Amino acid sequence: MSSPKCAFSVVAAKPDLNILPLYTEKQKESGDEGMKIFLDSANFSEIKEAVSWGVISGVTTNPTLMSREEASFEEMAGSICRLMGNRHVSVEALSTAAEEMVPEARRLAAMAPNIAVKIPMGVEGLKAVHELGSGEKVSCNVTLVFSVNQALLAALAGADYVSPFIGRVDDLGWDGVGLVREIVEVFDMYDLPTSVIAASIRHPRHASEVAAAGAHIATVPFAVLKQMAAHPLTDIGIERFLSDWSRFKGEKGR
Ligand code: G3P
Repeated sequence: MSSPKCAFSVVAAKPDLNILPLYTEKQKESGDEGMKIFLDSANFSEIKEAVSWGVISGVTTNPTLMSREEASFEEMAGSICRLMGNRHVSVEALSTAAEEMVPEARRLAAMAPNIAVKIPMGVEGLKAVHELGSGEKVSCNVTLVFSVNQALLAALAGADYVSPFIGRVDDLGWDGVGLVREIVEVFDMYDLPTSVIAASIRHPRHASEVAAAGAHIATVPFAVLKQMAAHPLTDIGIERFLSDWSRFKGEKGR
């Protein structure tokens, strides 16, 4: 798609890979900024297991996910951040007014260098994101995004990430994947530096569709991550190979 001159005033500069915790040192060196998978979970065992697969570049949490765990908020956030090293961890602010969101976000961001603070979309959220971009910048992930306009405003306010909730869009009978595609197109058209995190992913088809739609990141629940790795024909294929081997050659060993 061609890039017409930007009609909007862009607040944030192109993201500095040295301050954004999304990329590993290896990826920074190789300049690899390809699509990433995050795990949408606050469950330490799930996160640890997914990390061991070598496929996730970050973790996103939200108050619902955090509320399902036993540990305190600080314990959970601390142990997830330590496990993830320099990779992205999104933690959500609970305040609703900008003047409370800003100090809360600064407190959360101070917990670990790899934290991006999730700020709910809305006028108060935009004010907070704008404020958090000045002084000691806090990386913000604007969450609960349901339209291109919301995504555009969040990007212009200086969000590093926007999170369209595609499953909840589909729940209304609209097109969640289409929303991701449109947001990516608009960001590309005006060279906006904000990354699009496709969230509220409900099934593996969502994950492959948002990849094709150009999402920079898909954040997936652990159940979906497991489904992404699986295929019945893979299982059947393995079973057939092993049974052929043991039928014809098994008695001789390898
Ligand atoms: O990343 C947001 C996600 O956790 C919300 O998912 O399924 O509750 O819409 P869902």
